[in-house]
Amino acid sequence: MNDHHSAIFEPLTIRSLELANRIVMSPMTRSSSPAGIPGPDVARYYTRRAQGGTGLVVTEGVAIDHPSAVDNARVPRLYGDDALAGWHAVVDEVHAAGGKIIPQLWHVGPLWGAMGKVDPAIKPMRPSGLWGPVGTTSYSNEYITRATQSTAPMSEEDIADVIAAYVQAARHAVAAGFDGIALHGGHGYLLDSFVWHGTNTRDDAWGGDLLARTRFPVEVVTAIRAAIGDDLPIFYRFSQHKQQDYTARIAETPDELGIVLGALANAGVDVFDASNRRFDSPAFDGSDLSLAGWAKRLTGAHSMAVGSVGLGKSLRDSRIDGAAPVVDNIGDVEGRIISGEFDLIAIGRLHLADSALATTLRSGAALTPFNRSVHEASLR
Ligand SMILES: Cc1cc2nc3c(=O)[nH]c(=O)nc-3n(C[C@H](O)[C@H](O)[C@H](O)COP(=O)(O)O)c2cc1C
Repeated sequence: MNDHHSAIFEPLTIRSLELANRIVMSPMTRSSSPAGIPGPDVARYYTRRAQGGTGLVVTEGVAIDHPSAVDNARVPRLYGDDALAGWHAVVDEVHAAGGKIIPQLWHVGPLWGAMGKVDPAIKPMRPSGLWGPVGTTSYSNEYITRATQSTAPMSEEDIADVIAAYVQAARHAVAAGFDGIALHGGHGYLLDSFVWHGTNTRDDAWGGDLLARTRFPVEVVTAIRAAIGDDLPIFYRFSQHKQQDYTARIAETPDELGIVLGALANAGVDVFDASNRRFDSPAFDGSDLSLAGWAKRLTGAHSMAVGSVGLGKSLRDSRIDGAAPVVDNIGDVEGRIISGEFDLIAIGRLHLADSALATTLRSGAALTPFNRSVHEASLR
């Protein structure tokens, strides 16, 4: 086999996690786990990517054990004997295929109710009771009208309960045999909603300036690190954009980004997953460096880029007409890994289009264009 793009196929060790290469399956919600239990089909779906040579699978977002964590009963959970047995089987199968897998721990926070009808008696977890300022978003007017009604801010008890639920989920992940933990800290969900000024206007110890607003995710990471010990890596997904407003930003300057990510790195994050529509977009004026590049430069931690690898249209643009043509930008990914800009490359849609994506990249064979109706509808 020809070994195309050799830098992408260099191994990498992060704490005890030994990755065969730099290709990561990006987390993608499937809603295919009835009653929150991942079944044999979920195991097969992730195992196919491991068999296809992908170095690391990050699972779809997985609900932590809290009443308003995830508003869709077909999203898998990381609690309860039935779901944990399901995850155990998923992990065993992926490992048997030579792969590695980590779960993305998820609490939707202010976005409770976006995926499905919710029980009005259940309180959404919002730092200040706010959904956030409505900006460029793909949510329906019906949902926005409902969601922008303000609710009670999180109490001290709520905060303690949610931190405990994250820790419990991390413990369950370790017990199920996962190779690390991923936290969803982007897109306007709970962890991100503390950092974003649009959703956190608190004037107590959980709000205030940027560092104070970062306290909640820092406490979550600190508590998880204390619970799982030093062996396994913690990945942390962050983003500038929010589902409430794709143009929103948590950091206007590299210094501001350094405040947020520096605190998280000190708390125990090993890998920053810089969620972006395009892996190569310059993050700030005056420099070509990508968001993942800044994360690595500012913290010294490992970083992972994502967005439109191999594809000519971003996820948001391809939502409009459902298709994204192939573009050969893999050489650019490789160049950035060689130059040390980032360490890992996460790939979403192309992993749906081609379960053997890593093998395809290694052989230099043609990539499969992404077709939303074919590849996303079934999320095979
Ligand atoms: C169907 C679908 C579901 C997704 N679900 C999640 C998710 O659960 N958690 C998350 O952090 N990102 C999610 N994403 C975003 C992807 O992880 C990735 O960042 C995005 O698709 C950009 O990468 P790509 O251009 O390679 O597709 C999802 C994307 C798609 C297409």
